[in-house]
Amino acid sequence: MDWGMKNRLSRILQPKTGRTVMLAIDHGYFMGPTTGLEKPWEAIKDLAQYADVLMLTRGVLRNCVPQDLDKPIVLRVSGGTSIIGKEMLHEGMTVDIDDVIRLNASGMAYSIMVGTDYERDTILDLSRYADLAEQYNIPLLAVTAVGKELGKDARYLGLACRIAAEHGAHLVKTYYCDDFEKVVEGCPVPIVIAGGKKIPEKDALQMAYDAIQKGAVGVDMGRNIFQSENPVAMIQAVRAVVHDNATPEEAFKIFEEKK
Ligand code: 5RP
Repeated sequence: MDWGMKNRLSRILQPKTGRTVMLAIDHGYFMGPTTGLEKPWEAIKDLAQYADVLMLTRGVLRNCVPQDLDKPIVLRVSGGTSIIGKEMLHEGMTVDIDDVIRLNASGMAYSIMVGTDYERDTILDLSRYADLAEQYNIPLLAVTAVGKELGKDARYLGLACRIAAEHGAHLVKTYYCDDFEKVVEGCPVPIVIAGGKKIPEKDALQMAYDAIQKGAVGVDMGRNIFQSENPVAMIQAVRAVVHDNATPEEAFKIFEEKK
């Protein structure tokens, strides 16, 4: 692996622990002004300091995030459909590599839709970004399994993650599931978990803990942080799980104390 690729990866996976707390705030690209993210920077300005990485779109980055923010960015580079459209899962390439470079991104995030009518398009586009990732040393995060139609068991998630890695993703984002260790075992690149729909803070911390214990290298979490009753307390509790191996009980105590 070339120096530039390793350097950017080390901005994402923190060298001290090899793990990461990514704050996902890209939801607007297909959900519009979703609850908690109506004003993106307002929503996350107090959270950014506790995140290792921000994952967002170029529109929010250019218009809502201060240029002097010293925080690695993973840029969402797929899209093209919405939650009200007929083809929600039919995403394509939305950002040219030139713009990824102009925006000084530390990584790119692309969604693949394994098991849908559009899997071929999305996997071929992922491969195209994998070529560009190698050409310019910019890590590629493959996002798997977004959409409620898709199964979220170890068999499906293991398949989707493995396919992403086989096509050149450097990191994979997926959901937590029973037998998650099997998903991790079958995937030759590091895995981070999405949080999914908002659930009680205690349960989200338990999920993050279980994922880490079973081999995930971190979280790329959105709604369970920015929709929490206290997002700043929640992200600190998540950090404790990811970077300090805090148990769910210890992390929940941190949440209670900080809120
Ligand atoms: C959507 C995404 C989101 O960033 C992802 O789902 C993470 O957010 P959440 O924790 O809210 O599920 O990649 O395509």
